[in-house]
Amino acid sequence: MGFDVHATDGMARRGTLTTAHGTVETPAFMPVGTAGTVKGMMPGSVKTTGAQIILGNTYHLMLRPTAERVAQLGGLHRFMNWHGPILTDSGGFQVMSLSDLRKMSEDGVTFKSHLDGKRHHLTPERSMQIQHLLDSNVTMCLDECTAFPATHEVAEKSMKLSMRWAQRSRDAFVERPGYGLFGIVQGSVYADLRAESVKALTDIGFDGYAVGGLAVGEGQQMMFDTLDVTTPLLPKDRPRYLMGVGKPSDIIGAVRRGIDMFDCVMPTRSGRTGQAFVRRGVLNIRNARHAHDDRPLDEKCGCPACRSYSRGYLHHLFKAGEMLGPMLLTWHNLSYYQDLMADLRRAIAQGCFEERAAELEAQLLLGDI
Ligand code: GUN
Ligand code: ZN
Repeated sequence: MGFDVHATDGMARRGTLTTAHGTVETPAFMPVGTAGTVKGMMPGSVKTTGAQIILGNTYHLMLRPTAERVAQLGGLHRFMNWHGPILTDSGGFQVMSLSDLRKMSEDGVTFKSHLDGKRHHLTPERSMQIQHLLDSNVTMCLDECTAFPATHEVAEKSMKLSMRWAQRSRDAFVERPGYGLFGIVQGSVYADLRAESVKALTDIGFDGYAVGGLAVGEGQQMMFDTLDVTTPLLPKDRPRYLMGVGKPSDIIGAVRRGIDMFDCVMPTRSGRTGQAFVRRGVLNIRNARHAHDDRPLDEKCGCPACRSYSRGYLHHLFKAGEMLGPMLLTWHNLSYYQDLMADLRRAIAQGCFEERAAELEAQLLLGDI
Protein backbone atom coordinates (compact mmCIF):
# COMPACT_ATOMS: atom_id res chain seq x y z
CA MET A 1 0.00 0.00 0.00
CA GLY A 2 1.47 3.36 -1.03
CA PHE A 3 1.21 6.81 0.46
CA ASP A 4 2.68 9.98 -1.06
CA VAL A 5 2.59 13.46 0.45
CA HIS A 6 2.32 15.98 -2.41
CA ALA A 7 2.16 19.21 -0.44
CA THR A 8 2.27 20.46 3.12
CA ASP A 9 1.07 23.73 4.64
CA GLY A 10 2.08 24.03 8.28
CA MET A 11 1.26 20.59 9.69
CA ALA A 12 -1.54 20.03 7.14
CA ARG A 13 -0.79 17.53 4.37
CA ARG A 14 -2.17 16.83 0.90
CA GLY A 15 -1.50 13.21 -0.11
CA THR A 16 -2.57 10.12 -2.03
CA LEU A 17 -3.17 6.65 -0.61
CA THR A 18 -2.82 3.87 -3.20
CA THR A 19 -4.66 0.57 -2.74
CA ALA A 20 -5.48 -2.49 -4.86
CA HIS A 21 -8.95 -1.02 -5.45
CA GLY A 22 -7.93 2.54 -6.32
CA THR A 23 -6.46 5.70 -4.90
CA VAL A 24 -7.68 8.03 -2.18
CA GLU A 25 -6.88 11.73 -2.07
CA THR A 26 -6.14 12.93 1.44
CA PRO A 27 -7.25 14.55 3.67
CA ALA A 28 -10.15 12.11 3.14
CA PHE A 29 -13.50 11.48 4.78
CA MET A 30 -14.77 7.88 4.83
CA PRO A 31 -18.57 7.41 4.93
CA VAL A 32 -19.57 4.68 7.38
CA GLY A 33 -20.92 1.50 5.77
CA THR A 34 -21.27 -0.54 8.95
CA ALA A 35 -23.35 -3.51 7.81
CA GLY A 36 -22.26 -3.66 4.17
CA THR A 37 -24.24 -0.57 3.19
CA VAL A 38 -23.94 3.18 3.61
CA LYS A 39 -27.47 3.40 4.97
CA GLY A 40 -29.96 4.79 2.47
CA MET A 41 -27.45 5.22 -0.35
CA MET A 42 -26.63 3.14 -3.43
CA PRO A 43 -22.84 2.73 -3.84
CA GLY A 44 -22.91 4.66 -7.13
CA SER A 45 -24.52 7.57 -5.29
CA VAL A 46 -21.91 7.42 -2.52
CA LYS A 47 -19.25 7.69 -5.22
CA THR A 48 -21.07 10.68 -6.79
CA THR A 49 -20.73 12.59 -3.50
CA GLY A 50 -16.96 12.43 -3.99
CA ALA A 51 -16.20 9.61 -1.53
CA GLN A 52 -13.19 7.53 -2.58
CA ILE A 53 -13.07 5.09 0.36
CA ILE A 54 -15.68 3.78 2.78
CA LEU A 55 -15.52 2.12 6.19
CA GLY A 56 -16.90 -1.30 7.10
CA ASN A 57 -17.18 -3.00 10.49
CA THR A 58 -15.72 -6.33 11.59
CA TYR A 59 -18.13 -6.52 14.53
CA HIS A 60 -21.38 -6.24 12.54
CA LEU A 61 -20.30 -8.37 9.59
CA MET A 62 -18.83 -11.18 11.75
CA LEU A 63 -22.22 -11.53 13.44
CA ARG A 64 -24.31 -11.14 10.28
CA PRO A 65 -23.92 -12.48 7.63
CA THR A 66 -20.48 -13.73 8.94
CA ALA A 67 -17.09 -13.08 7.33
CA GLU A 68 -17.10 -16.55 5.78
CA ARG A 69 -20.38 -15.80 3.98
CA VAL A 70 -19.03 -12.46 2.66
CA ALA A 71 -15.90 -14.27 1.42
CA GLN A 72 -18.00 -16.98 -0.26
CA LEU A 73 -19.98 -14.23 -2.02
CA GLY A 74 -16.82 -12.67 -3.43
CA GLY A 75 -15.57 -10.39 -0.65
CA LEU A 76 -17.05 -7.14 0.68
CA HIS A 77 -16.41 -5.09 -2.50
CA ARG A 78 -18.42 -7.46 -4.69
CA PHE A 79 -20.94 -8.33 -1.94
CA MET A 80 -22.00 -4.68 -1.51
CA ASN A 81 -21.13 -3.49 -5.05
CA TRP A 82 -18.60 -0.88 -3.85
CA HIS A 83 -15.49 -1.42 -5.96
CA GLY A 84 -13.35 1.32 -4.45
CA PRO A 85 -11.07 1.06 -1.40
CA ILE A 86 -12.52 -0.21 1.90
CA LEU A 87 -11.13 0.25 5.43
CA THR A 88 -12.52 -1.96 8.18
CA ASP A 89 -12.50 -1.30 11.89
CA SER A 90 -11.27 -4.21 13.95
CA GLY A 91 -14.25 -4.83 16.23
CA GLY A 92 -12.93 -3.91 19.67
CA PHE A 93 -14.55 -0.49 19.74
CA GLN A 94 -17.94 -1.77 18.55
CA VAL A 95 -17.87 -4.69 21.03
CA MET A 96 -17.49 -2.18 23.85
CA SER A 97 -20.26 0.12 22.62
CA LEU A 98 -22.82 -2.41 21.30
CA SER A 99 -22.52 -5.92 22.72
CA ASP A 100 -23.74 -7.34 26.03
CA LEU A 101 -21.70 -9.00 28.81
CA ARG A 102 -18.20 -8.14 27.60
CA LYS A 103 -15.18 -9.74 29.21
CA MET A 104 -11.67 -8.58 28.38
CA SER A 105 -8.66 -10.81 28.87
CA GLU A 106 -5.07 -10.88 27.65
CA ASP A 107 -6.20 -13.19 24.85
CA GLY A 108 -9.05 -11.04 23.56
CA VAL A 109 -12.63 -10.07 24.27
CA THR A 110 -15.58 -12.37 24.87
CA PHE A 111 -19.04 -10.91 24.33
CA LYS A 112 -22.66 -11.66 23.62
CA SER A 113 -24.07 -10.56 20.27
CA HIS A 114 -26.50 -7.63 20.43
CA LEU A 115 -28.53 -9.52 17.78
CA ASP A 116 -29.20 -12.94 19.31
CA GLY A 117 -27.22 -13.12 22.57
CA LYS A 118 -24.86 -15.76 21.18
CA ARG A 119 -21.34 -15.84 22.71
CA HIS A 120 -18.34 -14.83 20.57
CA HIS A 121 -14.61 -14.52 21.18
CA LEU A 122 -12.59 -11.92 19.30
CA THR A 123 -8.80 -12.02 19.38
CA PRO A 124 -6.24 -10.01 17.38
CA GLU A 125 -5.67 -13.12 15.24
CA ARG A 126 -9.38 -13.67 14.57
CA SER A 127 -9.91 -9.96 13.78
CA MET A 128 -7.08 -10.15 11.19
CA GLN A 129 -8.65 -13.31 9.71
CA ILE A 130 -12.10 -11.71 9.50
CA GLN A 131 -10.78 -8.54 7.84
CA HIS A 132 -8.83 -10.74 5.39
CA LEU A 133 -12.00 -12.70 4.56
CA LEU A 134 -13.84 -9.41 4.00
CA ASP A 135 -10.95 -8.44 1.63
CA SER A 136 -10.51 -5.09 3.38
CA ASN A 137 -7.87 -2.82 1.81
CA VAL A 138 -7.02 -1.20 5.13
CA THR A 139 -7.12 -3.54 8.12
CA MET A 140 -7.14 -2.05 11.63
CA CYS A 141 -5.36 -3.67 14.59
CA LEU A 142 -7.55 -5.00 17.38
CA ASP A 143 -7.34 -2.48 20.22
CA GLU A 144 -9.14 -1.40 23.35
CA CYS A 145 -10.65 2.09 23.12
CA THR A 146 -9.96 3.38 26.63
CA ALA A 147 -13.10 4.87 28.15
CA PHE A 148 -13.05 8.55 29.16
CA PRO A 149 -12.28 9.66 31.78
CA ALA A 150 -9.59 7.18 32.83
CA THR A 151 -6.90 7.54 35.49
CA HIS A 152 -3.29 7.49 34.28
CA GLU A 153 -2.95 4.00 35.76
CA VAL A 154 -6.03 2.61 33.98
CA ALA A 155 -5.11 4.34 30.70
CA GLU A 156 -1.56 2.94 30.89
CA LYS A 157 -2.72 -0.64 31.44
CA SER A 158 -5.24 -0.37 28.63
CA MET A 159 -2.74 1.20 26.20
CA LYS A 160 -0.14 -1.49 26.97
CA LEU A 161 -2.69 -4.24 26.26
CA SER A 162 -3.51 -2.54 22.93
CA MET A 163 0.22 -2.45 22.10
CA ARG A 164 0.58 -6.20 22.79
CA TRP A 165 -2.48 -6.78 20.59
CA ALA A 166 -0.91 -4.53 17.92
CA GLN A 167 2.14 -6.84 17.80
CA ARG A 168 -0.13 -9.91 17.58
CA SER A 169 -2.18 -8.19 14.85
CA ARG A 170 1.02 -7.43 12.89
CA ASP A 171 2.19 -11.07 13.25
CA ALA A 172 -1.16 -12.48 12.08
CA PHE A 173 -1.74 -10.02 9.21
CA VAL A 174 -1.24 -11.54 5.76
CA GLU A 175 0.59 -9.02 3.59
CA ARG A 176 -0.57 -8.51 0.01
CA PRO A 177 0.24 -5.76 -2.53
CA GLY A 178 -2.29 -2.92 -2.33
CA TYR A 179 -3.41 -3.94 1.16
CA GLY A 180 -2.22 -2.55 4.48
CA LEU A 181 -2.44 -2.68 8.26
CA PHE A 182 -2.81 0.37 10.50
CA GLY A 183 -1.74 0.55 14.16
CA ILE A 184 -3.91 2.48 16.63
CA VAL A 185 -2.38 4.93 19.13
CA GLN A 186 -4.06 4.88 22.56
CA GLY A 187 -3.19 6.53 25.89
CA SER A 188 -6.26 8.64 26.66
CA VAL A 189 -5.40 12.34 27.16
CA TYR A 190 -1.95 11.66 28.70
CA ALA A 191 0.97 13.00 26.63
CA ASP A 192 3.50 10.50 28.07
CA LEU A 193 1.23 7.53 27.29
CA ARG A 194 0.50 8.77 23.75
CA ALA A 195 4.27 9.11 23.17
CA GLU A 196 4.90 5.62 24.57
CA SER A 197 2.13 4.21 22.34
CA VAL A 198 3.56 5.90 19.22
CA LYS A 199 7.02 4.46 20.07
CA ALA A 200 5.62 0.94 20.51
CA LEU A 201 3.73 1.08 17.20
CA THR A 202 6.53 2.65 15.13
CA ASP A 203 8.96 0.03 16.51
CA ILE A 204 6.61 -2.67 15.17
CA GLY A 205 6.05 -0.76 11.91
CA PHE A 206 2.69 -0.22 10.22
CA ASP A 207 1.40 1.03 6.85
CA GLY A 208 -0.46 3.82 8.63
CA TYR A 209 -1.19 5.09 12.12
CA ALA A 210 -4.60 5.79 13.61
CA VAL A 211 -5.28 7.91 16.65
CA GLY A 212 -7.92 6.13 18.72
CA GLY A 213 -9.54 6.79 22.05
CA LEU A 214 -10.66 10.32 21.13
CA ALA A 215 -14.12 11.86 20.62
CA VAL A 216 -15.21 9.81 23.62
CA GLY A 217 -16.38 12.74 25.75
CA GLU A 218 -13.16 14.68 26.34
CA GLY A 219 -14.37 17.67 24.29
CA GLN A 220 -12.84 19.42 21.29
CA GLN A 221 -10.09 21.31 23.13
CA MET A 222 -8.74 18.21 24.92
CA MET A 223 -8.93 16.28 21.66
CA PHE A 224 -6.88 18.98 19.89
CA ASP A 225 -4.43 19.14 22.82
CA THR A 226 -3.96 15.36 22.58
CA LEU A 227 -3.38 15.57 18.81
CA ASP A 228 -0.82 18.33 19.45
CA VAL A 229 1.30 15.90 21.50
CA THR A 230 0.69 12.91 19.18
CA THR A 231 0.80 13.74 15.44
CA PRO A 232 4.27 15.41 15.57
CA LEU A 233 5.66 12.05 16.78
CA LEU A 234 4.14 10.02 13.93
CA PRO A 235 6.15 9.12 10.78
CA LYS A 236 5.69 11.85 8.14
CA ASP A 237 5.59 9.34 5.28
CA ARG A 238 2.62 7.32 6.53
CA PRO A 239 -1.10 8.17 6.58
CA ARG A 240 -2.67 9.27 9.87
CA TYR A 241 -6.29 8.46 10.67
CA LEU A 242 -8.36 10.04 13.44
CA MET A 243 -11.00 7.43 14.29
CA GLY A 244 -14.66 8.35 14.72
CA VAL A 245 -14.26 12.10 14.06
CA GLY A 246 -16.24 14.23 13.64
CA LYS A 247 -18.07 17.55 13.29
CA PRO A 248 -16.85 19.83 10.46
CA SER A 249 -14.92 22.02 12.95
CA ASP A 250 -13.26 18.88 14.45
CA ILE A 251 -12.09 17.87 10.97
CA ILE A 252 -10.70 21.32 10.12
CA GLY A 253 -8.81 21.43 13.46
CA ALA A 254 -7.45 17.91 13.01
CA VAL A 255 -6.29 18.53 9.42
CA ARG A 256 -4.49 21.62 10.81
CA ARG A 257 -2.73 19.20 13.20
CA GLY A 258 -1.62 16.75 10.49
CA ILE A 259 -4.45 14.21 10.22
CA ASP A 260 -5.12 12.65 6.78
CA MET A 261 -8.18 10.41 7.24
CA PHE A 262 -11.51 10.55 9.09
CA ASP A 263 -14.69 8.54 9.55
CA CYS A 264 -17.86 9.42 11.39
CA VAL A 265 -21.51 8.37 11.46
CA MET A 266 -22.54 12.02 11.87
CA PRO A 267 -23.43 12.92 8.25
CA THR A 268 -25.34 9.67 7.67
CA ARG A 269 -26.94 9.20 11.10
CA SER A 270 -27.97 12.81 11.58
CA GLY A 271 -29.22 12.97 7.98
CA ARG A 272 -31.67 10.19 8.81
CA THR A 273 -33.09 12.22 11.71
CA GLY A 274 -33.48 15.44 9.71
CA GLN A 275 -30.24 17.25 10.61
CA ALA A 276 -28.55 18.90 7.63
CA PHE A 277 -25.00 20.27 7.54
CA VAL A 278 -24.92 23.57 5.65
CA ARG A 279 -22.17 26.16 5.07
CA ARG A 280 -23.38 28.20 8.05
CA GLY A 281 -23.75 25.34 10.54
CA VAL A 282 -26.54 22.80 11.08
CA LEU A 283 -30.31 22.96 10.66
CA ASN A 284 -33.15 20.58 11.44
CA ILE A 285 -35.40 20.27 8.42
CA ARG A 286 -38.32 19.21 10.67
CA ASN A 287 -38.40 22.72 12.15
CA ALA A 288 -41.63 24.59 11.21
CA ARG A 289 -39.66 27.55 9.81
CA HIS A 290 -38.72 25.41 6.78
CA ALA A 291 -42.32 24.43 5.84
CA HIS A 292 -42.88 27.35 3.42
CA ASP A 293 -39.23 27.83 2.34
CA ASP A 294 -38.69 27.48 -1.42
CA ARG A 295 -34.87 27.73 -1.15
CA PRO A 296 -32.59 24.66 -1.33
CA LEU A 297 -30.93 23.33 1.82
CA ASP A 298 -27.66 24.96 0.78
CA GLU A 299 -27.32 27.37 -2.18
CA LYS A 300 -23.64 26.39 -2.63
CA CYS A 301 -24.28 22.62 -2.81
CA GLY A 302 -24.62 20.74 -6.10
CA CYS A 303 -26.14 17.54 -4.68
CA PRO A 304 -29.51 16.20 -5.94
CA ALA A 305 -31.29 17.27 -2.74
CA CYS A 306 -30.16 20.87 -3.28
CA ARG A 307 -30.42 20.98 -7.09
CA SER A 308 -34.00 19.72 -7.35
CA TYR A 309 -35.83 20.12 -4.05
CA SER A 310 -36.87 22.93 -1.71
CA ARG A 311 -36.50 23.01 2.06
CA GLY A 312 -40.32 23.04 2.13
CA TYR A 313 -40.50 19.74 0.23
CA LEU A 314 -37.78 18.08 2.35
CA HIS A 315 -39.64 19.28 5.48
CA HIS A 316 -42.81 17.66 4.12
CA LEU A 317 -41.02 14.35 3.45
CA PHE A 318 -39.79 14.19 7.07
CA LYS A 319 -43.17 15.18 8.52
CA ALA A 320 -44.86 12.52 6.38
CA GLY A 321 -42.33 9.85 7.36
CA GLU A 322 -41.37 9.31 3.72
CA MET A 323 -38.12 7.40 3.19
CA LEU A 324 -36.96 9.78 0.44
CA GLY A 325 -36.40 12.39 3.19
CA PRO A 326 -33.63 10.49 5.02
CA MET A 327 -32.18 9.40 1.66
CA LEU A 328 -31.90 12.98 0.33
CA LEU A 329 -30.50 14.40 3.59
CA THR A 330 -27.92 11.61 3.77
CA TRP A 331 -26.94 12.37 0.18
CA HIS A 332 -26.66 16.08 0.96
CA ASN A 333 -24.67 15.58 4.19
CA LEU A 334 -22.19 13.23 2.53
CA SER A 335 -21.80 15.74 -0.32
CA TYR A 336 -21.23 18.51 2.22
CA TYR A 337 -18.48 16.50 3.97
CA GLN A 338 -16.80 15.59 0.67
CA ASP A 339 -16.96 19.23 -0.53
CA LEU A 340 -15.33 20.27 2.75
CA MET A 341 -12.49 17.76 2.27
CA ALA A 342 -11.96 18.88 -1.35
CA ASP A 343 -11.89 22.50 -0.16
CA LEU A 344 -9.23 21.67 2.47
CA ARG A 345 -7.16 19.65 -0.03
CA ARG A 346 -7.20 22.53 -2.54
CA ALA A 347 -6.20 25.05 0.15
CA ILE A 348 -3.25 22.88 1.27
CA ALA A 349 -2.10 22.44 -2.35
CA GLN A 350 -2.33 26.21 -2.91
CA GLY A 351 -0.55 27.02 0.36
CA CYS A 352 -3.49 28.95 1.82
CA PHE A 353 -4.73 26.41 4.38
CA GLU A 354 -4.87 28.79 7.37
CA GLU A 355 -6.75 31.50 5.46
CA ARG A 356 -9.32 29.04 4.11
CA ALA A 357 -9.69 27.17 7.42
CA ALA A 358 -10.34 30.48 9.22
CA GLU A 359 -13.01 31.43 6.64
CA LEU A 360 -14.73 28.05 6.96
CA GLU A 361 -14.61 28.17 10.77
CA ALA A 362 -16.05 31.71 10.82
CA GLN A 363 -18.85 30.67 8.44
CA LEU A 364 -19.79 27.69 10.63
CA LEU A 365 -20.30 30.07 13.56
CA LEU A 366 -22.73 32.34 11.67
CA GLY A 367 -25.65 29.97 12.11
CA ASP A 368 -28.19 29.08 9.45
CA ILE A 369 -30.59 31.76 8.17
N1 GUN B 1 -13.50 4.23 16.55
C1 GUN B 1 -13.48 5.35 17.28
N2 GUN B 1 -12.49 5.29 18.23
C2 GUN B 1 -11.89 4.10 18.07
C3 GUN B 1 -10.80 3.45 18.76
O1 GUN B 1 -10.20 3.98 19.70
N3 GUN B 1 -10.47 2.19 18.33
C4 GUN B 1 -11.13 1.59 17.29
N4 GUN B 1 -10.75 0.36 16.91
N5 GUN B 1 -12.15 2.17 16.64
C5 GUN B 1 -12.52 3.42 17.03
ZN1 ZN C 1 -26.89 19.44 -1.00
